[in-house]
Amino acid sequence: MAMMTTTTTFFHSLLPSTTYKSGALSSSFVSVPPSSTPSSLHFRSLVSDTSSVFARRKLTGNLRKVSVTVSASATTSPLTVLVTGAGGRTGQIVYKKLKERSDQFVARGLVRTKESKEKIGGEDEKLFIGDICDPEAIAPAVQGIDALVILTSAVPKMKPGFDPSKGERPEFYFEDGAFPEQVDWIGQKNQIDAAKAAGVKQIVLVGSMGGTNINNPLNSIGNGNILVWKRKAEQYLADSGIPYTIIRAGGLQDKEGGIRELIVGKDDEILETETRTIARADVAEVCVQALQLEEAKNKALDLASKPEGTGTPTKDFKALFTQVTARF
Ligand SMILES: NC(=O)c1ccc[n+]([C@@H]2O[C@H](COP(=O)([O-])OP(=O)(O)OC[C@H]3O[C@@H](n4cnc5c(N)ncnc54)[C@H](OP(=O)(O)O)[C@@H]3O)[C@@H](O)[C@H]2O)c1
Repeated sequence: MAMMTTTTTFFHSLLPSTTYKSGALSSSFVSVPPSSTPSSLHFRSLVSDTSSVFARRKLTGNLRKVSVTVSASATTSPLTVLVTGAGGRTGQIVYKKLKERSDQFVARGLVRTKESKEKIGGEDEKLFIGDICDPEAIAPAVQGIDALVILTSAVPKMKPGFDPSKGERPEFYFEDGAFPEQVDWIGQKNQIDAAKAAGVKQIVLVGSMGGTNINNPLNSIGNGNILVWKRKAEQYLADSGIPYTIIRAGGLQDKEGGIRELIVGKDDEILETETRTIARADVAEVCVQALQLEEAKNKALDLASKPEGTGTPTKDFKALFTQVTARF
């Protein structure tokens, strides 16, 4: 808990009973009866607010003016965040980052199987097991969360018998019940609905670049039309009324994060350039930063990075999100 001390002058009748806004985050002051002069005021805030100024009103009547030192306890309450697809390659990194920043976040994860749970957290009670295609399986995981990070995705499987030495190209398929329509559309929609019902304050959704072109080759993988269904879910989120950030990543790489300059764009323009990839660790960091920055809200961005050694590694995420103007 962060403590701050401030000296202020107020009238008994002005003791705050109002909700004050600090950015988009609210700080509710506890009302204090006029008969008592408090030695401290407590308020709950998602950020430490050192600049709140009590509203002053012209008062009539014979009120005694008091000058007191107010020791206000500004609770920087950690955000409870659920990461779905927490057993996946990017989801695992987001879950780990949130756990490491325990002063800012209470991390929860949703994985599909017991095996995934064992792989990333064993007995971790904050890891829920459930299939996102089943709304009932999602409900317990979203109860009481502040934010949701969606990192689930249909994953194509390679057909056996492929021999690259013969110059053959691999063929892919989706298992029954795991087609993009079911996972990337219905499954994501289920999560958005469940989170909305639970009163979530923000959803970060990781999607993919390429969705503006129906003929993108990714759509033909396993006859899944994966980008079409992903985009449908993105639109559903943008229309949901919940503050959101849609991150459409370029080709994902299992490389070290934090050492490249990140590039944001819109409408797949980045796909026309030579810089179309990004480390999963960088996507994960952008997800975490989006949870903390107002500038990330209600925006959709394409995301890639410059090659290592060129450009300046991105550290200022506020500036990065400020560059983004697209809402979808
Ligand atoms: N690969 C790329 O180059 C690329 C490029 C751009 C964007 N993207 C997108 O970026 C995101 C992250 O990609 P990634 O490669 O890190 O992910 P990933 O490793 O493929 O993980 C996807 C996760 O979704 C989970 N999942 C699938 N169906 C589920 C269901 N019905 N219920 C619950 N969980 C389910 C999987 O669980 P299991 O572990 O149990 O299977 C897995 O953990 C995805 O949306 C992906 O499409 C990928």
